[in-house]
Amino acid sequence: MTSLDPARLRRTLADHLEESGVLETPAWRKAVEDVPRELFLPSFFKDWPDPDGTTRYTPVSRDADRDEWLSLAYRNETWVTQIDGRITADATNGPVTGFPTSSSTMPSTVVGMLESLDVDHGMSVLEIGTGTGYSTGLLCHRLGEDNVTSVEVDPAVSERADQSLEAAGYSTWTVTGDGLLGHPRRAPYDRTIATCAVRRIPYTWIRQTEPGGIILATVGPSAWSYGTGLAKLTVKDDGTATGRIIGRTSFMPARAEAAVPFSGDLSARTAYADIERRTSLSPDVLNDWMPAFLAQLAAPGAQLVRAVSDSRETVYLFDTGREAFAALTADGDGDGDEWTVRQGGPVAIWDAIESALTVWQDAGEPDLSTVRLEVSPEAHTYWIGEKPALRWKHQHQPLSR
Ligand SMILES: C[S@@+](CC[C@H](N)C(=O)[O-])C[C@H]1O[C@@H](n2cnc3c(N)ncnc32)[C@H](O)[C@@H]1O
Repeated sequence: MTSLDPARLRRTLADHLEESGVLETPAWRKAVEDVPRELFLPSFFKDWPDPDGTTRYTPVSRDADRDEWLSLAYRNETWVTQIDGRITADATNGPVTGFPTSSSTMPSTVVGMLESLDVDHGMSVLEIGTGTGYSTGLLCHRLGEDNVTSVEVDPAVSERADQSLEAAGYSTWTVTGDGLLGHPRRAPYDRTIATCAVRRIPYTWIRQTEPGGIILATVGPSAWSYGTGLAKLTVKDDGTATGRIIGRTSFMPARAEAAVPFSGDLSARTAYADIERRTSLSPDVLNDWMPAFLAQLAAPGAQLVRAVSDSRETVYLFDTGREAFAALTADGDGDGDEWTVRQGGPVAIWDAIESALTVWQDAGEPDLSTVRLEVSPEAHTYWIGEKPALRWKHQHQPLSR
């Protein structure tokens, strides 16, 4: 017998979200108080870092220790529910390692996004990335199950979410498929929200969202585990969508865009440079969120690797999909003032990053929230101040300014 009362845990969670300023609308508070998160988390993984830096995931389930399971389910935490596209907590005995591929996102992020979606009674919503179905459940509570369509790429994840939603009393439209295509059958939607990150806003989402409707999605994922931004766009009558980056978020990338673990001989990959030049832009700038965000937008799909040889560090950026690389080595005494950059392949990765970061530096290095975005059928254009920081043509992935 458990001594914990889920309804009380929900109220405590709602209080916490309200006190931290995330939960503002009474209707969303009611949803948090009514939708049982534990139904969407019958089992999940608790994670902790090992001394060697590896993250280990230990299964937690309602059958093992009900009180622990229930209290964790109502923590304001992200709980991983699938690793490497196949490992689930109900089929695991001991700790495992790997890449998280599905989760129940922390409630403050879920609720913060729902608040930013500016929904109203009777609106229809397309959600990309059903995951456990918890956020879908909150949407169903607020808008009614017929107004919610949720797309999940992973069939097993989708089936579990469907069962959890049914258990919570919602027979909604859960669709198994690639959410980058939206779900044309039920379009148009008043709102589109993605709980996985995308390199760019798929134009299908703009087509499937009513003029005046809102799209909310995390942009800028890559091999770097941070440095993504939440884009909020309004669809216009002329078929474009405009908006800005409203804050930082961190989401797992859409499956097709996830980085493939990097391996291989670095010297072989960088043997043939097309351009070699000096740069005063240190790659260390990429340790900070805002420049990392811009760099990921400028070089989508690139992965960052640091290597030390003869006590000299080289920072590599590899776009394995396009067989392009940039390799940066500190000049002279290695104090980081001047770098030599060698670039090879069909796109000059560092040129693209440098030109986006130069616009940002010239504007006085403003915060993420100053970045505006326009998506047309032809291109994505990001603006900082009055200057386009980068323009990304859809047909031709490389960028020009
Ligand atoms: C962070 S989880 C979603 C969290 C979820 N909204 C919740 O509240 O539990 C991200 C989900 O997006 C899914 N996903 C990844 N790429 C996708 C795609 N192309 N289309 C639809 N779903 C995708 C993943 O399988 C994963 O389940």
